[in-house]
Amino acid sequence: MPTDHARETVEPRHGVTDRGSTAVAHPNIALIKYWGKRDEELIIPYVDSLSMTLDVFPTTTTVRLTPGAGGDTVTLDGAPAQGEPRQRVIAFLDLVRELAGRAEPAAVTTRNAVPTGAGLASSASGFAALAVAAAAAYGLALDDTALSRLARRGSASASRSIFGGFALCHAGQGVGAAADHSSYAEPVPVPDFDPALVVALVNAGPKAVSSRTAMRHTVETSPLYPAWAMSSKGDLADMREALDRGDLDAVGEIAERNAFGMHATMLAARPAVRYLSPATVAVLDGVLQLRRDGTPAYATMDAGPNVKVLCRPADAAQVAETVLAAAPGCSVLTARRGPGARLRMRNEP
Ligand code: PMV
Repeated sequence: MPTDHARETVEPRHGVTDRGSTAVAHPNIALIKYWGKRDEELIIPYVDSLSMTLDVFPTTTTVRLTPGAGGDTVTLDGAPAQGEPRQRVIAFLDLVRELAGRAEPAAVTTRNAVPTGAGLASSASGFAALAVAAAAAYGLALDDTALSRLARRGSASASRSIFGGFALCHAGQGVGAAADHSSYAEPVPVPDFDPALVVALVNAGPKAVSSRTAMRHTVETSPLYPAWAMSSKGDLADMREALDRGDLDAVGEIAERNAFGMHATMLAARPAVRYLSPATVAVLDGVLQLRRDGTPAYATMDAGPNVKVLCRPADAAQVAETVLAAAPGCSVLTARRGPGARLRMRNEP
């Protein structure tokens, strides 16, 4: 049985050393997608979403308070962060400082094991790790729901990476404070379902259009968006039943239709947003062929050209081989369900 909640075995989140607080979080891949915000400032999604947290590509983030410094410093993968990524981290720290009633600046150091901005959920692992590390550094005692709500303010998908295994993010109700309070993720216990997710990295470069910009443009201009948002409710209900049954074929079919629907909303935006490349389509053809040949394999894609293929762990090697044959030159890695965000123990390297 998979163990998603390794947190009981680590020291509590309030531990802060003079080297700061370090947190580790993993990306998650949505099987029912979040796309579109009904409140841009509070980052409140239009739709509920459901994801699987992975056991690969962790983000490790340290937040160290630097009283007396002139301002925050943000280091991303060894280099000073610039532009929007830097601004988003500083805005997030401002929010944490406001909640904690504190004013000290901080030094934030982040390492991503996944290419940043390539549609591989680096913002999910990034803001989940930042939420956990910053809350600890500023002395905020938050439970998982509150941490999830906080992580959402960085990136809605980050609310789900607070939890291991499968997680459901509620779009919430109402507006303003009511929406903020009711939009958070929670774990979906699925003890007996432990699929593999073969990640096909067809292009690890940063995407041309950020998901933030693309989803705003889609909501504003795509005539298909309302229909997809509505059908997503049915997809979520069906998905929960399929997960309960541990039915890989049903989970895969629902995830695939939900992802294609999301990309259809983008293709119908004016002008279109197209993340899927020829290599993406080649991998999708390979997945279809696998199914025709009797291997259950189902694809999902996010705001980028990379494809994640859901399959049985025993079929992962065959799926990886098919993906490589379809898109030579891409890199392939098999993920399983992974743990929730946590503070790193003092004696860990
Ligand atoms: O939370 P963001 O801004 O990284 O948006 C994520 C959107 C998708 O990855 C396309 C879907 C999802 O639910 O993760």
